[in-house]
This record gives sequence, structure tokens and C-alpha cells, in this order.
Amino acid sequence: MRKPTVLSVVALTTAALTLAACSTGTATNGGSSSSSSSSSQSAKVGGAGGDVGVFTWWAAGSEKKGLDALEALFKEKYPNDKFINLAVAGGAGSNAKAKLASDLANNQPPGSFQGHAGAELTDYIAKGQIEPVNDVIQELGGESVFPKDLLDRLTVKGNIYSVPSNIHRANVVWANPAVLRKAGASDTPKDMKSWISDLQKVKASGVNTPLSIGGTWTQLQLFETVLISDLGPEKYAGLFDGKTAWDSAEVKQAAADFKTLMTFTNNASDGDDWPAATDMVIDGKAAYNVMGDWAVAEFTDKGKKEQTDYTYFAVPGTDGVFDFLADSFTLPKGAKNPDGTKDWLRLIGSAEGQKAFNLAKGSIPARTDVLPDGFPPYQQSAMKDFKSNTIVSSIAHGAAVSLAWNTDMSTAISKFHANRDEKTLVNDLVAAAKKNLG
Ligand code: GAL
Repeated sequence: MRKPTVLSVVALTTAALTLAACSTGTATNGGSSSSSSSSSQSAKVGGAGGDVGVFTWWAAGSEKKGLDALEALFKEKYPNDKFINLAVAGGAGSNAKAKLASDLANNQPPGSFQGHAGAELTDYIAKGQIEPVNDVIQELGGESVFPKDLLDRLTVKGNIYSVPSNIHRANVVWANPAVLRKAGASDTPKDMKSWISDLQKVKASGVNTPLSIGGTWTQLQLFETVLISDLGPEKYAGLFDGKTAWDSAEVKQAAADFKTLMTFTNNASDGDDWPAATDMVIDGKAAYNVMGDWAVAEFTDKGKKEQTDYTYFAVPGTDGVFDFLADSFTLPKGAKNPDGTKDWLRLIGSAEGQKAFNLAKGSIPARTDVLPDGFPPYQQSAMKDFKSNTIVSSIAHGAAVSLAWNTDMSTAISKFHANRDEKTLVNDLVAAAKKNLG
């Protein structure tokens, strides 16, 4: 994206430490870290055999295409194993997470499930629901192929829990250039104030919904990007370790800006999913949608070309900041076929698996040795930005806050959608932080 700022190592480290709050150690390079994995058997040619049930929320559309790419490769590399697709529809795991929680509580874990690197993963670790996979990570190349900051977010007390498949960026505005041109709006508004003035222009040009949204989690994601814009990356990171007050002037400003942005949106219901919101930009019914970069896969799926049919830029005021999240696959405690699960983990963690998956998914490989060549321009720019931007952690996608804190913030956002009272929103956010930060 335009004018990326130079990497702030301090902010990256701060964010990483914030997220890995439970981590008291990290894996070391080259297989020297200790492993308490249940099975350290290495891969059998063709796979261990047996069923491997994989639980995700990549059930439809472009997200399913990403999973399909992995499934095809898994069948090719591990013909002895049987892939069972356990996907539950609903973006951001809006339905899947409740089903997963009950399956885990009832000791009916899937072979592997999708989790988010950071605070969300530490929930499963704290509850003893997942096993370390140090052996698989080391077999895949450990720190020589996965960024250390990412591994730190998967690590507790020297054990690495889960294998990352990809990295997504959440602070992206996707825009319809024809709608912007007609309205006389700028291509890349530089801050919230100029974006709000562009939204007014779009509205005045006759577009009823300048900014499209989906259900609650998409609004929480929009709000987190406004927080980053109004607080800046360091104060934003401080929200998760108690250094920044949730009733600070900047958070109040973000709540006010969010309220203004929400006056330009469609009136979504709680369960509305993201593709419909992104499609409003494709169809010219909306000028903008703030969505993670899984949206680029939706544009591609619909045959749309970047720059001509759609453009993208960092949420105004967040240029040079990469609002990070990563999907990562687990070995649940009590999984019926742990060796089959490890075949799956080997596949998603391999360079070949990461290339196939990320090409289809819109994300960038978690591995650093997958070259940008062959990726579309958006993903190439995201790979570059990930290396040079300041990294912060997504609230809506499990990187910054626990599942419980996410639930409380989602309740606050849903309440705000109904009452539009920003003072209550700030009070609810303060209460949620107090409850969850302890
Ligand atoms: C995120 C997930 C992404 C994408 C998105 C929309 O939580 O990490 O991979 O699936 O939800 O469903």
C-alpha cells in the first residue's frame, strides 16, 4: 500500500509480547527446543492412514476454494489418509466457534481445528485442549522458515501449539473506483476526517450505502481499524496490556468517528456475512467496504480486476500499519488419529501447501521462504508491507484478545448498532477490559 513507513521494531515487539502474554518462552531454532508432543513419530510415506477431520469456517465461496486447494494437495501427498471436511459456515467463525467449544467440552475434538495465533490460541492452551506440535514445526524448518514473532504467538512455556497456514491483514478498505470517480471522492483519503468528507460526497452523488458492513464481527473489525487510526499503533497495542485506558480521549474520538462511519452504512443484521458486504462494492451499491484481505479472493472469484474494477488502501490514518491475524491449525488433545493430524499439519506448513492455499485465499504465506513470484499484485504488496510496516494485532480475529473478551466487545458493538450511543459504547468497552484484563 502507499507510502509504507519504516518498521517499528519496538511496536512489533510490544505487540508480540502483548499477544503472547501467556508465553514464558519461545522455541529455539534448529530442533533444539524441548517437545512434549504426544507422538513424535515422523511422517510415513503416503500418510499414517485413517480419517482426518478438519474443522474450519471456510465453508463456501472463495474461502472454500482455499480449503479445497489444501484438500487436493493433501490427497495427493497423503493418499493413505482420508480428509473429512468439518467446516461450519459463518465468517470469522461466528457459528463455528460455539460448535467447536461444545465439541471440545464434550471430548469430541476434530482431527484439527482452525484457531488464531495470539490470545485466542492461549485460551485453548490454558484449558488444556490442544497439544504441542514442536516436532512438526521443527521438521518443517522452525525459525528458519517461520517468523520468530509469529512462533512466539503460538508458544507457551517453550512449547509451540499449532502450525500457521497464512497471515491476513484486517485494515484494508476495498473501493469501487467508478463510484468514487462519479462522486469526486479521492482515491486514497489520508485520514478519518478526509475519508468522512469523501463518504459525504459519495452519499451526495446518490449512493445510499457509501460504506457496506455485514454482521457484528465485521463491525467490530471496522471499529478496531478506527481505533488504530485514532490511537496510532503503540497506544492501540497498549489497550491490551492496560497501558492505554479504554476511556482515553483517543478511544472516545474513535467511538465518535465510528458512530459517524455507521451513519453511512447499510443496516445489517447480526448474522449477515462478509461476502454480501464485499459484493456491494463489486456491484457499485457501495463505494467502500472495510474487510480483511480474504476479500481479494472474493473479487478474483467474481472475475474482477484490481485497479479497474476495485482498488484498495489502508484504512485512512493506518497507512504503514499492518493489522495482523494468522490462521493456525491445532492438534487437539484426545484427537482420534494424531498421526493423521500431523500429516495434515505437515501439509499446511509446507512451502507447497502454503503457496497453493494462499494463492486461493488472498492471504500471504506464514513461511518466509515462499517467494512472491506468481502471487497477484495485491498479495505481493501485502508481503512487502508485512516486512516493512508496524504490526498490530486484530481484535476481531483472535490475535489481540481472548475469546471471552471478544464476546464482550461484540456484545458492546451489537448494542451500539441498535442504540448508537457512543458514551455507552465506551462504558461497555471499559467494563469489558476490566473484566478480561483482571
Ligand atoms: C477470519 C479468518 C480468515 C477468514 C475470515 C472471514 O477469522 O482468520 O481466514 O476466514 O475470518 O471468514
